[in-house]
This record gives sequence, structure tokens and C-alpha cells, in this order.
Amino acid sequence: MTETSSNGVVAYDVEGGIAWVRFNRPEKRNAMSPTLNRDMMEVLHALEFRDDVGVLVLSGEGTAWSAGMDLKEYFRETEAGGLGAVRQAQRESYGWWRRLRWYQKPTIAMVNGWCFGGGYGPLFACDLAFAADDAQFGLSEINWGILPGGGATKVAVELASFRNAMYHALMGENIDGRTAAEWGLVNEAHPLDRLKARVTDVANVLLKKNPVALKATKDAIRRVSIMSYDDAEDYLVRAQEAANSFDKEGRQEGIRQFIDEKSYKPGLGAYDK
Ligand code: ACO
Repeated sequence: MTETSSNGVVAYDVEGGIAWVRFNRPEKRNAMSPTLNRDMMEVLHALEFRDDVGVLVLSGEGTAWSAGMDLKEYFRETEAGGLGAVRQAQRESYGWWRRLRWYQKPTIAMVNGWCFGGGYGPLFACDLAFAADDAQFGLSEINWGILPGGGATKVAVELASFRNAMYHALMGENIDGRTAAEWGLVNEAHPLDRLKARVTDVANVLLKKNPVALKATKDAIRRVSIMSYDDAEDYLVRAQEAANSFDKEGRQEGIRQFIDEKSYKPGLGAYDK
């Protein structure tokens, strides 16, 4: 059964361990208004530790994933409210992207359509990303006279090559889902009518893995990229030791089923948790 956030601008269903969360302002191409940002935080908060949620998928209602920040409500109207209002709007948008980046459960961006500017924040916040072949990605900021802020420049540089990031940001031209996959903005692109099936398959694989190991792994991938080798080595030892305290039996069971029971091979799939 579909549920909606307080103001109705985020919709979600939980089905078979997957939380299908959707930007729900299709008439505004899912532009992120302050209200949407608050509602999204509310929904993320409500879902994060639910036992029936193992993976979260973020997509958009209608033709857009998200057309970025709402130029009227996020920029014009908050700027009219002064610096305090601007900073609050920034905290609320960056806040839910940050929450999503370090979410307890694995997250997947399912980019069904337009993805602009500020949309790169939640795009990067999701651990994996799959796009429709014809989805359109753009750093359109330059087209209306600003730099790609709110993390968008950082996301482009993190995910794409220097040359592609620079071209993308300076030219304000869109790329489609296939090119986004070539550039590394998303993992894969698929025809829109097969996108959900592929994302469901990926989510179902994740649902079979040890959840403590998934959280430790996704955080490790994000953390080590800015560490020296030695710092990363030390962090990873400690991160595994911390994970062990949350999951005392998991690893031993994984070893037991392989070595003693011979019921699976870790090189070919996950143990039965
Ligand atoms: N902010 C505010 N309103 C928006 C936004 C946005 N980012 N995107 C779309 N809308 C509104 C339109 O103003 C329009 O409202 P109206 O019906 O009241 O006139 C409605 O959504 C539908 O938009 P259309 O432009 O009619 O939809 P169309 O499908 O023809 O085009 C497209 C879609 C290409 C996404 C277009 O709406 C667009 O260019 N949007 C802006 C994209 C953008 O540059 N976003 C900002 C990125 S920069 C940043 O996020 C910091």
C-alpha cells in the first residue's frame, strides 16, 4: 500500500524487503523544494531501521527523477527570507543527502528521467545507481547563471573524469543514461521498461547478504577514497572489528557453511543467513 509523507511530496511502498521511495511532485518535475527536503528526511528517518526494509530504492514519479533544486521555492523564496532562511534550506537539503550517504541500508538510485543539478546530491548519496537509457542528466546551473553548488561539482569530479566533468559543467549540455553509465555517473543503463526489473534483481541479491557486512562495506568504500593506504588499512581493520561486535555469529556461520557443511561457495554466492 502506497504511503505518503506529511505534505504528500514523497511517496513510498515497502514490498519484499525493498522500500520504493519516490520524489512525488511530478507536476514540478520533482524539483526539490524546502517542503520536499523536509518530507524526504521524515521518510528516510521512518524507514531506516525498520526490520522489513533491507534495501532502499529512490526514484521519481512521472517523467523526472528530479529536476534539481526548486528555482522558485528553494532559491527565490528562501533568498527573500534572508541569510537565515537560505542556510536553513541548505541544511535541510544537504541534511537528507548526508543521511542517505551514510544510510544503514544499501541504497539504489533508479533514475527514471530528468536528473539535474542538485539532483546529483542524492544521486551520489545512493550507493548504486541505474538509469533509463533515455534519462537526461545535466549540470544546468551554468544555463541559468550559477556554478554547480550543493555538492554537484564535487559529485561530477568524484564520478566522472576531469575532462568530462569540466565539459559537463561548462557547457550545460545534457547526457543520456547510456552516456551517464559510460562516464560512471551510474552503474548501468537499461530501457525504461526493464529498469525496475533490473533494480529489483540487484536489490534481491543485496537482501541475501549479511546486513552488518553490507553497512560496513558501503561505509568503507566511501571512507577510504580520501585516506592514505596506511590509514585505510588501519580503518578497515577497526571497521571489521567494530562490525564483529554487532554481528557475533555471522562470519563464523559463513565459514561453517563453506568449510564444514559444504553447502555453498563464497566465490559463487552468499551463505544462507
Ligand atoms: N524548479 C522549479 N520549478 C520547476 C523546476 C525547477 N527546477 N523544474 C521544473 N519546474 C516546473 C516548471 O516551472 C513547470 O511549472 P508550471 O507548470 O507551474 O509552469 C513545471 O515544473 C513543469 O515543467 P516544464 O518545464 O513545463 O516541463 P518539461 O517536461 O517541458 O521540461 C525540464 C522538463 C527540462 C526538466 C524543465 O522543467 C527544466 O528545464 N527544469 C529546470 C531544470 C534545472 O535546470 N534545474 C535546476 C538545476 S540547478 C540546481 O539544482 C542548483
